[in-house]
Amino acid sequence: MKRRDFLKSTAAGAGLLILPQSMLLGAGAPSNKLNVALIGTWGRGGAHFGAISSENVVALCDINEEHLAEPAKRWPNAKTYVDWRKCLDQKGIDAVVCSTTDFTHAFVANWALNRDMHVFCEKPLGNTVEESRVVRANYLKRRNRVATQLGTQRHANPNFNRTKELIEDGVIGKVTDTYAWGNRQIPKPGYLPAQGEPPKHLHYDLWIGPVPFHPYNPEYFAGGPGANCLKWNMYWDFGSGQIGDMGSHVMDLVWNAMGGGLPTTAEAKGDPFNPEVTPVMLESHFTMPANERRGPITVNWYQGGAMPRSPRPYVDLNKIGHGAMFKGSKGYLVCDFDSRLVIPFGDDADLSYYHRRDKMLPPLGSFQKEWINACKGDLKTSVDFDYGGTMTETMLLGLVAYRVGKKIDYDGAAGRVTNSDEAKALLSKKYRDGWTLNG
Ligand SMILES: NC(=O)c1ccc[n+]([C@@H]2O[C@H](COP(=O)([O-])OP(=O)(O)OC[C@H]3O[C@@H](n4cnc5c(N)ncnc54)[C@H](O)[C@@H]3O)[C@@H](O)[C@H]2O)c1
Repeated sequence: MKRRDFLKSTAAGAGLLILPQSMLLGAGAPSNKLNVALIGTWGRGGAHFGAISSENVVALCDINEEHLAEPAKRWPNAKTYVDWRKCLDQKGIDAVVCSTTDFTHAFVANWALNRDMHVFCEKPLGNTVEESRVVRANYLKRRNRVATQLGTQRHANPNFNRTKELIEDGVIGKVTDTYAWGNRQIPKPGYLPAQGEPPKHLHYDLWIGPVPFHPYNPEYFAGGPGANCLKWNMYWDFGSGQIGDMGSHVMDLVWNAMGGGLPTTAEAKGDPFNPEVTPVMLESHFTMPANERRGPITVNWYQGGAMPRSPRPYVDLNKIGHGAMFKGSKGYLVCDFDSRLVIPFGDDADLSYYHRRDKMLPPLGSFQKEWINACKGDLKTSVDFDYGGTMTETMLLGLVAYRVGKKIDYDGAAGRVTNSDEAKALLSKKYRDGWTLNG
């Protein structure tokens, strides 16, 4: 019996499992703990310490050696690395938590999947449409062997379930349009100029990794723990701005309530195009075909000052920093991460048609633990790389539409823009020599 199968059967409570003595004793004896690698060990990486501390943390990787010091003290038996490619070659790793920069997520996730490892990856899943698709497709091939989770931990807030129940149970009738927005604004003129030399403990060339080289500037590293991403995620080569950042969390409200999918069209507008920096103000609009849970809908994203129109002047949507709104045949539902507001509309919307379900959806509990349990059990998570992949792909397709400045037609099954060669070229990126997405 392979170690991975042992983990699954013990976690499933297989009390009747009879193991040969040789498997129960000795140095190589299996335990019901996962061998975990944490890649990106500071900042957001620290948010995963608690969840993985129930497991065997066997590898730690960070391009900043100072960021390795604290976790190395906590897990003295873990091997340490500055290059995630070497880390993933360590034998016996079952599961990987990736908390690195957005522009390395798809690389780490895809390489880990290629080695049949379970993966928890911080959002967004990639920095291009192609990256997101490659990782999703790789996961779909292996979904009977590995568990994945995209790091949108707000998903565990009870409001996600409450919103979904209200919509599924028809409180606003048939939903036709969905809106999500975020108000954060981090304007920047362009990539930072060269300034000084990277300190010895910082492996800057590895930080740049697959993307075109940009000179070192300490400002890229000047943010507090868990907020340093705001120092680099607005630059095209490093991130996707607020759509990939807070957009991942807010769009998750829409994906959860409506079931995801891929759009057939995308169009977007915003700040004038800057080849170095993603737009602060942006709105993107998608046509989503029907899925098994609903009819066709539109998905609409607004950021950095752009906002959807309020259904009634007495509802000031601007007071909700990050929120979502659903328009149905009988009214509107407005929500943030923790609360919701139903606005029945029209003479029909007397709510006599709405019945609160007897059994509410169960609480999700810890989002990170859901993944750890899934690795050892049925492999099912709430935001796997299929769900999270279509969400990331849609968001990033909006940026492609923004860049070409016209409505694009999209074949989601093939991952092809069918009416613009310019847009086609923007679905993927060329990487620095020596780096491959598929290693
Ligand atoms: N889920 C959430 O609520 C949430 C919150 C904050 C950040 N994030 C996400 O987490 C990720 C990290 O954000 P952050 O603010 O902690 O950023 P950060 O710049 O502080 O990076 C996190 C850690 O990863 C290390 N690192 C960077 N590139 C690496 C590489 N190639 N290999 C190994 N280590 C590397 C850094 O040195 C740092 O220790 C981002 O993708 C961000 O979107 C998610």
